[in-house]
Amino acid sequence: MPTVTIHPTGEVIYLEPEETVLYGLYRAGYAYAVGCRRGGCAICKVDCREGEFHYNRPVADTVITDAERTDGTCLSCRAVPESDITIEMRGENLRLVNPLLRQINEKARLRAAAVAAERSHLTGTTTKE
Ligand code: FES
Repeated sequence: MPTVTIHPTGEVIYLEPEETVLYGLYRAGYAYAVGCRRGGCAICKVDCREGEFHYNRPVADTVITDAERTDGTCLSCRAVPESDITIEMRGENLRLVNPLLRQINEKARLRAAAVAAERSHLTGTTTKE
């Protein structure tokens, strides 16, 4: 149950497994400046402040430099969180453009957290929300 937390507003968005950051945010009713949506233009870069992610397809070194691969730069249209992550937008704010989708996403997040809590209760293990 990966989530994306937006710094500094604290919004928490639920992503489906293997969903990219960009797609998850759009599906939750948010918008921000993007271009090609396929890893070629570099417009969708955000900063990953916490958590791990991988790219679902190879990303060219002309889009993400070696230095950016280690400094937390996240190409959001290709980045798939491996855990809960915290990101910060670059030079703009995330805009909520569809509050209904936001509500649906929040309910999905709470439902997934309840299922995870129930599973951990049954197995005696602990999980992060
Ligand atoms: S939108 Fe073009 S690289 Fe992500």
